Amino acid sequence: MTPDLLEQGARRVEARMQQQAALGKTESGGRAAGFSRIAAAPGVVDVTHGRILYLEDVCVSFDGFKAINNLSLDIAPGELRCIIGPNGAGKTTMMDIITGKTRPDSGTVFFGSTIDLLRYTEPQIAQMGIGRKFQKPTVFEQLTVFENLELALKTDKGVKSSMFFRLDSAASDRLAEILHTIHLADSVARMAGNLSHGQKQWLEIGMLLMQDPKLLLLDEPVAGMTDEETARTAELFLTLKGKHSLMVVEHDMSFIKTISEIVTVLCDGSVLAQGTLDQVQNDERVVEVYLGR
Ligand SMILES: Nc1ncnc2c1ncn2[C@@H]1O[C@H](COP(=O)(O)OP(=O)(O)OP(=O)(O)O)[C@@H](O)[C@H]1O
Ligand SMILES: [Mg+2]
Repeated sequence: MTPDLLEQGARRVEARMQQQAALGKTESGGRAAGFSRIAAAPGVVDVTHGRILYLEDVCVSFDGFKAINNLSLDIAPGELRCIIGPNGAGKTTMMDIITGKTRPDSGTVFFGSTIDLLRYTEPQIAQMGIGRKFQKPTVFEQLTVFENLELALKTDKGVKSSMFFRLDSAASDRLAEILHTIHLADSVARMAGNLSHGQKQWLEIGMLLMQDPKLLLLDEPVAGMTDEETARTAELFLTLKGKHSLMVVEHDMSFIKTISEIVTVLCDGSVLAQGTLDQVQNDERVVEVYLGR
């Protein structure tokens, strides 16, 4: 979440409301939107060592409680990594650490082999190409699908110029491609607030994609979706794999089964098991934590 994008969105919503007031229409207030905006990447991510993300011995405590406890894991470029684990295992906290929202007490967190993420702020990490999707959809409800995507475009333009910003042809092509990818090509002129829950989630993913992230962190992306929306989200993630690296946290095992290669099981703040879904589901320690101790 970055203040400049929130402000741009707010200005657009305000402009829209003024337009509609002039036309005699009113609109009730919508939810604020926010997500990590990715601007020009300051450096190239070095993945020559075969890792885009590398965590080693990361620890974080909250009031003496070790939420993350010697956590080590790494992700390959283009990989779609699934993370599962019981409530309170530390999955969201791990994403907070990667994105700079929470500072670990100790440990190493690298983006590629040269970027020490612990030296950067949350907005800088977003700018370097790590996009994050929180569980609740956060889109600008009073703007159209098109306007939401346009707003998310990688641009250094200020608020004023962005309000009058016109897409160049490469950006238009990109927007059209993403609309298709997120299954919203037929809804381009619809108000985001009128979309279904699943469509809002896709729109937010589309907004992240507009910024061309190298790594996407998705926290419970299919929670609250219908079965059909969940199936389409699985398809979407499979098309993103390879072009981006993805880390997907989910409790929905049938979804995980459809998309997963390697599954990492977190428990008590560290990796309990890792392997294919079959392998981890047959691991006695995993069965034990899921069935309750
Ligand atoms: N800011 C915080 N202050 C205090 N405790 C926290 C904070 N953030 C997380 N925790 C605690 O850390 C543990 C891990 O929480 P986290 O939200 O990362 O789990 P999770 O694996 O994402 O769980 P879920 O599947 O329910 O989303 C929990 O016990 C939680 O209460
Ligand atoms: Mg969580």
